[in-house]
Amino acid sequence: MIQKIQEITTEVNDYQIDSPEALETYRLKFLSRKGSISELFDVFKELPGIEKRDIGKPLNILKSTAEEKFNLCKEEFESSQDSLSGKIDTTLPVYQNEFGSFHPLKIVENELVDIFHSLGFDLAEGPEIEDDQHNFGALNFAEDHPARDMQDTFFIGENVLRTHTSSVQIREMEHNEPPFRLVMPGRVYRNEAVSSRSNCFFHQIEGLYVDKNVTFADLKQTLYYFVQQFFGEGIKIRFRSSYFPFTEPSAEMDIWAGIETEENKRLTKGTGWLEVLGCGMVHPNVLKACNIDPEIYTGFAFGMGIDRITMLKYGIHDIRDLFVNDTRMLGQFKGL
Ligand code: PHE
Repeated sequence: MIQKIQEITTEVNDYQIDSPEALETYRLKFLSRKGSISELFDVFKELPGIEKRDIGKPLNILKSTAEEKFNLCKEEFESSQDSLSGKIDTTLPVYQNEFGSFHPLKIVENELVDIFHSLGFDLAEGPEIEDDQHNFGALNFAEDHPARDMQDTFFIGENVLRTHTSSVQIREMEHNEPPFRLVMPGRVYRNEAVSSRSNCFFHQIEGLYVDKNVTFADLKQTLYYFVQQFFGEGIKIRFRSSYFPFTEPSAEMDIWAGIETEENKRLTKGTGWLEVLGCGMVHPNVLKACNIDPEIYTGFAFGMGIDRITMLKYGIHDIRDLFVNDTRMLGQFKGL
């Protein structure tokens, strides 16, 4: 009997348990009702009392050794199964999370909104699908007037994809009382399938200031302040007269880029001047369309392409680079 106990003890100690299946085989072999240890206990029960004394102790030790081994392995398998703890190597270097970045257009838009906010302009937004009245009619585009051709329009049934953010001026003015001092950024659409470099949508930011006694001088000073803040102190600007149905007089503003480098020459078509935005005094008809008395109130408005000035500021040559979501390009704007 003693010898048998020793044999089984050795067997238990040497038994390799490397999987939950092996553990189950181990349990059946030694610990189950029909297992070899239980069988020893059956024999033990039949022994005369005198023999029991010497056998009892080693037999109990064998049983608890076998059970301990079983419990230990069971715990190990369970903990590596229901949590990752068994698989985590805490000595590995930390996995670096990639942080995203703002899109360059959003960076520039935020900067523009901030600059105008510092002058007291609030933010306003409007829908991208517009009706004819907000995109054209109330902005003094006469029915069938060729001015509508200035902006190649996408039509959606009765509606249009807004061709400019000037529609937001109307939405703000038609239901509110002056004064208005607003900037209105957003996406606009034009059907420009003519050149392979063109894109059918881009982004604008519109400015509007309507109050008593607003003059063209206010417009010039506001835009002058903007370019100093955005492009840097000392930048030169000029105004050229222009035409928009919704402003009178109208102008376009250029900034001086210089003609020193080949790049300057190419960008400015040899003139040194870069066109940056359209602007003017709000046309009396636009105020009237919004039930604002042009005898009491005057105002100025301006609109510029965010894409264009983003490209100028960061030296991006092809507008489509802004929309292909290439992280090698976008990643360079991290932290801005
Ligand atoms: N809406 C004009 C455009 O898209 C820009 C503009 C806005 C001009 C406001 C004057 C005043 O070209």
